[in-house]
Amino acid sequence: MPIKTTEKIWHNGKLINWADANIHVMSHVVHYGSSVFEGVRCYGLPTGPAIFRAQEHIQRLLDSAKIYRIPVDYTRDQLVDAMVETVSANGVWPCYIRPLIMRGYGEIGVNPLNVPVECYVANLPWGQYLGGPEDVGVDVCVSSWTRLAPNTLPAMAKAGANYMNSQLIKMEAVLNGYVEGIALDVSGCVSEGSGENIFLVRNGKLITPPLGNSVLAGITRDSVVRIAQDLSIPVVEQVIPREFLYVADEVFFTGTAAEVAPIRSVDKITVGDGAVGPVTKAIRKELFGIFDGSRPDRYNWLTPVPVRQKVGA
Ligand SMILES: Cc1ncc(COP(=O)(O)O)c(C=O)c1O
Repeated sequence: MPIKTTEKIWHNGKLINWADANIHVMSHVVHYGSSVFEGVRCYGLPTGPAIFRAQEHIQRLLDSAKIYRIPVDYTRDQLVDAMVETVSANGVWPCYIRPLIMRGYGEIGVNPLNVPVECYVANLPWGQYLGGPEDVGVDVCVSSWTRLAPNTLPAMAKAGANYMNSQLIKMEAVLNGYVEGIALDVSGCVSEGSGENIFLVRNGKLITPPLGNSVLAGITRDSVVRIAQDLSIPVVEQVIPREFLYVADEVFFTGTAAEVAPIRSVDKITVGDGAVGPVTKAIRKELFGIFDGSRPDRYNWLTPVPVRQKVGA
């Protein structure tokens, strides 16, 4: 998806022009992947733009920074405000928001402890991430690449470096004609997609791997679990052997970019009867209803963005 620019980017407390948000080629992050970031969506409701689970995303960003000993000069509330300020200033929504904390310019060695930290928030328009029409699932494969093994790179941190593994998974899948790859963990059990968590449905139960299987603690994953519980759908976190993917009644990905994306086949084996299943549909209806304002925000997941005018409107 090519980048569509907006006007301003928030940098260390100030809005700067998009074109000025540059870093030096010798910055630590360029060489060693030393960044943590978030992907957040801001939806266009009839009442105006609203950011989905802003606090939880920023909390995860701060948690990722803490894991990597990256000192952050801003609190959770300040960074939530930075997202609101950026969307408001750019007047572009619905949009994808990208908060990013990185090790900047200062040292060429690996040791990051004395390298300055830079903090950015950008937003840009971004549509559907995975796949085609709403009622058709995507065709995916199991990747030959394994997800990060525990005690190598921390899977709980959403760090730039982790996405080298994601790129291998994604490239292999796409070059082999699939939309996405599902990675197994180091023990050969189901972990997650290159940028999504995964859920299975079998006999009416919703099943997803626990965090111990090298998965990111997805915020959409958490939202889906909450909604399923309220719909009285039993939810289990359990270790999932690969072959469970082939015999599941329904399989879907969740993620900020992918939202809730049904899977039609895994390794060319049709999931269920190939149609989007009833549990996937019920969860999508509830969640997408919150996104478009047709359902009340009963979980308090939306942060409204005050705006004067939509650019291009
Ligand atoms: C590797 C990985 N897993 C899972 C997810 C889903 O997380 P979330 O629902 O918070 O976007 C993402 C996307 O951020 C991801 O990159």
